[in-house]
Amino acid sequence: MADLKETSDLANFDPYWYAQCYEADMMEDDLDSLHEIFNEIQSDIRGKRLLDIGTGPAIYTVISASNYVDEIFLSDYAPQNREYLTKWWKGEISYPKDIIDYIIEEEDRHMTTKQREDEVRERVKGIYHIDILSEQPLGFDINDSKFDVIVSGHCLDGLATNLAEFKRCLQNVSCLLHNGGFFIMSCGVGSTYYQVGEYKFVWKSFTKDEVKQSVLDAGFSILSYIEISDIGDKYWDAESHYYIVARKQ
Ligand SMILES: C[S@@+](CC[C@H](N)C(=O)[O-])C[C@H]1O[C@@H](n2cnc3c(N)ncnc32)[C@H](O)[C@@H]1O
Repeated sequence: MADLKETSDLANFDPYWYAQCYEADMMEDDLDSLHEIFNEIQSDIRGKRLLDIGTGPAIYTVISASNYVDEIFLSDYAPQNREYLTKWWKGEISYPKDIIDYIIEEEDRHMTTKQREDEVRERVKGIYHIDILSEQPLGFDINDSKFDVIVSGHCLDGLATNLAEFKRCLQNVSCLLHNGGFFIMSCGVGSTYYQVGEYKFVWKSFTKDEVKQSVLDAGFSILSYIEISDIGDKYWDAESHYYIVARKQ
């Protein structure tokens, strides 16, 4: 990894490289966790509107969820990621077949890959620019259109440069949710970077206790916690990562 150039400039984030390299690994553990969260552990996660924060070019975070919400909104800071998602939404790019087939099997449904992918596309109602570091993350006042469920994969702890900033992100997430709304987030343990092409993006991990306390301080209760080991991840140096399921008080 010595030759990688360190960056925090999202202009260097290549969604095509990210999609090809990260999704080549099947990430069964993430898919199992999301399936469990929606189907087994927390089977009351339901709602009209779901927002995925920092989707990047990766929609795996909303596939299981798509069975339980009416409308899905994807979002990212980087314009090239939003363009990639728009192409996927229009059907110009397909999500990896292995991943969708794995979820179809988990859900015990009898349908083709395309049918399941199109189901998710139909639920998607918008792709937003977001800056979760901002007090108005979507750039407009959403008082009348808060979300019932928010999901965020490998994003918030990676973008925050210190604990105070991470806490602010969580408060901004909370402002986007209805009271009683659900928040599902994955975080890395012990990571210092993730690779995208020839770049390494700095990643400041926080301890599990810091993350849990920050979630509580932002006005959530923690409903569940699922740990995943990351032995041998090629592009991310986390020792492990985990999902937290929380509910806004
Ligand atoms: C490691 S990628 C995760 C992508 C995807 N959610 C996943 O699980 O693979 C982090 C994402 O966070 C986005 N991001 C970075 N800064 C952000 C910000 N201030 N607000 C919202 N998203 C941001 C990046 O553009 C990138 O798509």
